[in-house]
Amino acid sequence: MLSVAILAAGKGTRMESSLPKVLHKISGKSLLQRVIDSCFELNPNQIFIIIGHKSKEVQDSITKNQKVQFVIQEPQSGTGHAIQVLCREVKKSEGKLLVLNGDVPLIKPNTLKKLLNLHDKKNADVSLITTKKKNPHGYGRVFLEGDFIDRIVEEKDCNNQERLNLLVNAGVYCFNWENLSKIISNLQSNNNQKEIYLTDTVSLLKNSFGLEVEDDGELQGINNRIQLSKCEDIFQNSIKEKHMLNGVTFLNKASCSISEEAEIGKDVIIEANTHIRGSSKIFNNCVIGPNTYIENSNVGLHCEISNSTVYDSKIMDHIKIGPYSHIRPNSKISSYSKIGNFVEIKNSHLEEESKVNHLSYIGDSIIGSYTNIGAGTITANFDGQKKHQTKIGKNSSIGANTVFVAPINLGESVTTGAGSVITKDSKDNSLAISRTKQVNIDNWERKKS
Ligand code: UD1
Ligand code: MG
Repeated sequence: MLSVAILAAGKGTRMESSLPKVLHKISGKSLLQRVIDSCFELNPNQIFIIIGHKSKEVQDSITKNQKVQFVIQEPQSGTGHAIQVLCREVKKSEGKLLVLNGDVPLIKPNTLKKLLNLHDKKNADVSLITTKKKNPHGYGRVFLEGDFIDRIVEEKDCNNQERLNLLVNAGVYCFNWENLSKIISNLQSNNNQKEIYLTDTVSLLKNSFGLEVEDDGELQGINNRIQLSKCEDIFQNSIKEKHMLNGVTFLNKASCSISEEAEIGKDVIIEANTHIRGSSKIFNNCVIGPNTYIENSNVGLHCEISNSTVYDSKIMDHIKIGPYSHIRPNSKISSYSKIGNFVEIKNSHLEEESKVNHLSYIGDSIIGSYTNIGAGTITANFDGQKKHQTKIGKNSSIGANTVFVAPINLGESVTTGAGSVITKDSKDNSLAISRTKQVNIDNWERKKS
């Protein structure tokens, strides 16, 4: 029987934030959700989340799951108090209780498994993860006696000698729940913070063991924004290194961010200040960036996208986008097309080899293959109440500054005159033109003022 308790009731004063600490995010996912997701990998029987400060906000943020139950800790009198509340609420204290601070978001399931194994092997009352830190400031210091942990002293309670100890408590513990419940009410708050510390249980329990782990970043706790940023860097570096080993080049790695779900093919070059978010997929041989943002989109083979943003769209193969294009949701750009400077595309399908090169808005449209949309063309898709569709057949040539007043349906191989306002449908192979003829008045003299 494995139960998990995640401590998430604190305010996180040092974050200087109106948002509860555990709801701050690392690469788009909250600290708390990350800890929960790691714990799910262990397939526990139940997960308790201890909430208190802004409890509703915290509760609402969590992905619903039958195994997850919430326990309210009010007031928040320390990490030991949080577990006292849990033990009072849950009468059946059997098996192992894995306790994690909600502010250690990069903890790996494999490390948790090692802790559980050690716990079983030693038949421990409590086993916890320790690590040596070059700069242990802020962490509880772990003092050993032989094989056992003797005590943990919080930074604020350390004397000068104790402060020199580099072995710290990572905030991840496995308890024999039955034995824990026998001593939990004996915890006191006679310390400098006047809090009930969970760390004091190691002195009250008999068999307390440490699993010392080489910290490659996964044990970074988050108490302030400096540590939040450090964690983000650690996490992003691990994502980018994975892609680099798979054949992706980053030209300025530090300025880019990649979501953990993103898939990137071989020989893709990611230029500076490029961000690939959500469940995006970039296929082989693309050059993405500089200054490009892609979210929840697919980009096919051999595409080049620079200085542009793409949301929730499908970009097929051999396409050039940018600079300064904005592809909005639900667009599909078919192969060998080109979207150029200052062009906005929304909810539209551009079929193969179509071109929208300059200064256009194409919304709710279907543009046929081999069609060229002249500079400054606008689809006027909104009548003040509803959006309407524009359809332009293949092989068409749309003159510069054409306005299509939708709904409108143009056949194939249609030409429009530059500057036309098109309000009527037109047939295949037609010319649609709507503008006043140019008048030239010779010898015209401007009025003198
Ligand atoms: C804690 C440990 C410290 C350890 C460090 C690792 C204690 C006393 N100290 O210190 O030894 O080195 O984590 O990161 O445990 N929380 C509650 N209820 C409360 C207070 C806190 O649920 O009443 C939650 C917080 O929301 C947070 C977690 O417990 O997620 C840890 O609290 P925090 O204040 O960050 O403890 P640290 O000072 O980091
Ligand atoms: Mg902390």
